[in-house]
Amino acid sequence: MNKLNLAVLFGGQSSEYSVSLHSAGSFLRQIRKENYNLILIGIDQNGVFYLYNGDVEQIEHDTWKNDQDCTPCAFIHKGVISLEDPENKIDIDVVFPILHGKNGEDGCVQGLLELMNIHYVGCDVMSSSISMDKEIMHILCKEANIPCAPYVCLKKYEENPSFEEIQKQIPLPWIIKPCNAGSSYGVHKVETREDFEPAVEDAFYYDGRGKILVEKAIDGFEIGCAVMGNETVFTGSIDEIQIHGSIFDFEGKYEDKGAEIICPARITEQQFKDAQKLAYRTYKAMNCTGLARVDMFLTSDQEIILNELNTIPGFTATSRYPSMMNDAGISFPDLIDKLIELAMQRKVGVC
Ligand SMILES: Nc1ncnc2c1ncn2[C@@H]1O[C@H](COP(=O)(O)OP(=O)(O)O)[C@@H](O)[C@H]1O
Ligand SMILES: [Mg+2]
Repeated sequence: MNKLNLAVLFGGQSSEYSVSLHSAGSFLRQIRKENYNLILIGIDQNGVFYLYNGDVEQIEHDTWKNDQDCTPCAFIHKGVISLEDPENKIDIDVVFPILHGKNGEDGCVQGLLELMNIHYVGCDVMSSSISMDKEIMHILCKEANIPCAPYVCLKKYEENPSFEEIQKQIPLPWIIKPCNAGSSYGVHKVETREDFEPAVEDAFYYDGRGKILVEKAIDGFEIGCAVMGNETVFTGSIDEIQIHGSIFDFEGKYEDKGAEIICPARITEQQFKDAQKLAYRTYKAMNCTGLARVDMFLTSDQEIILNELNTIPGFTATSRYPSMMNDAGISFPDLIDKLIELAMQRKVGVC
């Protein structure tokens, strides 16, 4: 069988640039290199694309961008060209975007690849963009009868309800968060009136589209489910996050501080099944393909509600998505092969 030409995208013009470098490093160490012709494409924080010929360590240490190993490049129809040698097209069968947040996970890069008629791993343009916007997710979940936390959306250039008005709708404590961010940037717990203004300001700072959410702070704990598939969907294991503070913050997520991930979650068999079912329903409601990690809460009333859906979850060897799939019997290298197979099955350039 011919090896697939697989382009791996890493970096990105997003606040989650460094998270992507770590994910890409682990991914490149785990992938079965004998199955693919690998083409590495780094995107710097200004959004410039480079063909990269260096080693994995430099990606992990963020020293990958140097004249020796990089040439600026551009996607063209079914391939990529180095801008220093534009006559020489490198064919690409499929792209694995290991990009998080803005421009990577929100449908932008997916749109570029659709236009270039290149297969890519993960959700399509529409599913990526709706899942990225937490207000749109709330609206669609309401339609689909998927339970979520009560919320109010505040918009930067519009008249918004006051603290008191919000309080009438949603009793304190609240979580204030950007509609379009990730990695817990700009997320704050609000317990008093004094907490409100600074939280709003910081959440707006991280939201490029000027929209933030005030949500009821859910009393309970966080669980997640790894989901994979196109028409036929597989739900993996459920994990549980034990946090020591009030938010699963950046340090807890990436620096092993203040949080522990337990997989499988210490919940009843019925709760496990219910969580898988809610994850499946959310995946289908958002018309996802490829993969997603569905994050939920198990409330103190023993109810399972949705928090958010991540279309490109963290991909390091210890990340939640690969760990939940591993717990369901799918090793990291098998998972990569399977996700690429799913990408090849989906049509591109037609939506
Ligand atoms: N409604 C909520 N109630 C309680 N905690 C929340 C709520 N919303 C967010 N959080 C906390 O903040 C973290 C980050 O929020 P999340 O909505 O997942 O955004 P991000 O896209 O940044 O991961 C969550 O993992 C959780 O710890
Ligand atoms: Mg989250």
